[in-house]
Amino acid sequence: MLIGIPRESKQGETLVAATAKTVSQLTGLGYDVIVESGAGELADQPDSAFVEAGVKVGTTEEVWAADVVVKVNAPTDEEIGRLRRGATIISMMAPSRNSELLEKLQAAGVTALAMDAVPRISRAQSMDVLSSMANVAGYRAVVEAAHEFGRMFTGQVTAAGKIPPARVFVVGAGVAGLAAIGAASAMGAIVRAFDVRPEVAEQVESMGAQFVKVDFESEVSADGYAKEMTAEQEAATASMYDEEARAADIVITTALIPGRPAPSLIGAETVAGMKNGSVAVDMAAANGGNVAGTVSGERVVTDNGVTILGYTDLAGRLAAQTSQLYGTNVLNLLKLTTPEKDGRLTLDMDDVVQRGITVVRDGEGMWPPPAVQVSAAPASPSAVKPAAESAKETKPLSPGARIGLVLAGIAAFWLVNATAPDPIPRHFTVLMLSIVVGYYVIGKVAHALHTPLMSVTNAISGVVVVGALLQVASADGVIRALSAGAILLASINIFGGFAVTRRMLGMFSKGS
Ligand code: NAI
Repeated sequence: MLIGIPRESKQGETLVAATAKTVSQLTGLGYDVIVESGAGELADQPDSAFVEAGVKVGTTEEVWAADVVVKVNAPTDEEIGRLRRGATIISMMAPSRNSELLEKLQAAGVTALAMDAVPRISRAQSMDVLSSMANVAGYRAVVEAAHEFGRMFTGQVTAAGKIPPARVFVVGAGVAGLAAIGAASAMGAIVRAFDVRPEVAEQVESMGAQFVKVDFESEVSADGYAKEMTAEQEAATASMYDEEARAADIVITTALIPGRPAPSLIGAETVAGMKNGSVAVDMAAANGGNVAGTVSGERVVTDNGVTILGYTDLAGRLAAQTSQLYGTNVLNLLKLTTPEKDGRLTLDMDDVVQRGITVVRDGEGMWPPPAVQVSAAPASPSAVKPAAESAKETKPLSPGARIGLVLAGIAAFWLVNATAPDPIPRHFTVLMLSIVVGYYVIGKVAHALHTPLMSVTNAISGVVVVGALLQVASADGVIRALSAGAILLASINIFGGFAVTRRMLGMFSKGS
């Protein structure tokens, strides 16, 4: 099949749906590729780079006559008219807000795959263009803010005096928010962040920011997206937003609930109370904005000297990298839909990812797809509950019970030492000490380090297997049974560990 990569027709668009690198990988899947002349010019992908990658550079007509047309923005009416019946178009389409577009695609008798409808599940992450774009945009939001702010982010103590660090407040800790937190903290700012989804507190902290806690009832998200706030939640957060925004030098807002207008979070009164020279980057500008006074696509300076940036092309401002990421997302989708690597796109409607993005199939409307319910939540939401509350839930032992346990332990220890023959007391002492030390050491290891910890336990299991092998031939039946049990359990740990590690590495593997 022939894949066509047209030049984007949207005014000011810098992105292209494929790069020299991704087209050569597409040919590896068995496809022929044709790129419209000048398509990658603004993304540092000149025609010559595509020719060097071994694909053809052609005219608009040639590209639109392809079997599969891949672009960034939804096709215009004119572009739909150029598609031939039975062709496949792959682009972002915002299908939930674009029923008219879907009708036109149906009438054209084509198959349409919406890159921005990839379900948010781990397996589909490599195809998730919204995440790729939001990640770049979050970073760029900080760069734009730093440029407008005109002062250093990092604090310094110099012979000429002290410079305080900038204070950044990020609202919404999804993909864009977390990228903004990472960039701002890397630049040395003090970053604080808030999100209605309680499960992201840990991620916020791991990116170097402080999670602002608000005392209200909230649910762990079932699909990685937030739900609309209740009236009580809104009241509880309003004063926090006001307080944080007034104290901040930079406010970056990314709050969004898919398919809804952006929630209005930073009101006019709060903006009026923000510091002169402070900057708000409203990433939700295209959907109505989170900050009062935002103008989509524009830079606005308020009477009190607050700059509000409503840019909607933040990802496009880093065109080369964003195009590379978008192109890779498309490539990963085509790897999924070209299982035989024979250059033939085949859709499997039993696969949730392929079903999720198929909005029109051979002229038949397929939107919306059945809901995909996948929890993006960690096992326990207690991390974001107030400390006192979570302490109540874990029910610590009463002082009496603790003393009782310690006394029982000492008694057992004494009993074994006094009655058991040598070398059991020595081994028993080592075992007890290992349990105590292990309990405290492992209990304090952060979740993020559990994988390396698993490797260490594998090493320990190896030692156990060696010890048990030395004992398994013992004349004593009990020792033989214990050794065999030890070999079995430690082997399960070792091989299970390898299997889990292999699966995890597979998630990061680019494949062949
Ligand atoms: P996301 O869905 O990953 O993150 C949005 C976050 O906002 C979620 O974590 C959600 O829990 C949170 N949220 C929702 N309502 C909230 C509320 N009332 N208070 C606090 N947090 C709330 O979305 P993603 O991908 O991070 O995108 C964020 C925004 O950035 C979107 O509006 C998107 O359209 C926009 N965007 C803008 C670009 C630009 O150039 N301006 C480029 C890419 C994305």
